[in-house]
Amino acid sequence: MGRIIAIANQKGGVGKTTTAINLAASLAAADMRTLLVDLDPQSNASSGLGIRKGTYPRSTYHVLVHGIPLDSILHSTEMDALFVAPASRELVGATMELSQEEDRHQRLERALEPVSSKFDFIIIDCPPSLDILTVNALIAARSLLIPIQCEYFALEGVSELMETVGQIRRLRNPNLEIEGVLLTMFDERTNLSNQVMQDLRTFFGDKVFSTIVPRNIRLGEAPSHGRPILLYDIKSKGAEAYIRLAKEIIHGTEKSAGAGS
Ligand SMILES: Nc1ncnc2c1ncn2[C@@H]1O[C@H](COP(=O)(O)OP(=O)(O)O)[C@@H](O)[C@H]1O
Ligand SMILES: [Mg+2]
Repeated sequence: MGRIIAIANQKGGVGKTTTAINLAASLAAADMRTLLVDLDPQSNASSGLGIRKGTYPRSTYHVLVHGIPLDSILHSTEMDALFVAPASRELVGATMELSQEEDRHQRLERALEPVSSKFDFIIIDCPPSLDILTVNALIAARSLLIPIQCEYFALEGVSELMETVGQIRRLRNPNLEIEGVLLTMFDERTNLSNQVMQDLRTFFGDKVFSTIVPRNIRLGEAPSHGRPILLYDIKSKGAEAYIRLAKEIIHGTEKSAGAGS
């Protein structure tokens, strides 16, 4: 069974997609068969791995709304062990279209069942909201990875996210774990970044990954070349950080229970 990790935070621009792409690629580089499931209508995780908008007829929208098999939409990538289930703009309408369906929250869980044994890791990139798409991801997942940008109000919305996690545990997925909290766009020269790091350690305890992703221009550039940072600039600080994060996740460094567990 593949380890299913949802990457979520309802704030936009915190590094979810960058983390989904580069964690997935770093896991694949470590010979882990990895599937990246793109659930964001913006499809940035898909395009960031070279799957260009408008070049594929079916996406995660068709899987969730029309029930087509997930393995019928998979794309291979430049990396042998990495596959992508791409998103599309049509996902914007999925919440409305599914609103009357009783099983609307379990669609992704069902779709992953027949494919999960083919992968070591399944990484789900969520949209910046706590809508039906993110709920589907949290129900399908074994754990949640929360990227948090080192900026003012970094913790804003986090308690709402943890409340959602609590609800999902009560309703449907009692074993949903916090995989970890990842600091992104960290700038060690600023007091602010260091302050945010301390606040997060107070709030989440050992759930904060020891890997911290620095602000790194190369990470911002790579998606426009349709490549993960590993294939764009392996020597960059950004590549180094995501390779370390993958190791931390593969080896499952012991983290004690933090907030919300
Ligand atoms: N560590 C980083 N250093 C520099 N730029 C980054 C970093 N992480 C993300 N970015 C850039 O910040 C923007 C938002 O990141 P993204 O991963 O798309 O966030 P989200 O998916 O949470 O909306 C993107 O332009 C991305 O390239
Ligand atoms: Mg995103």
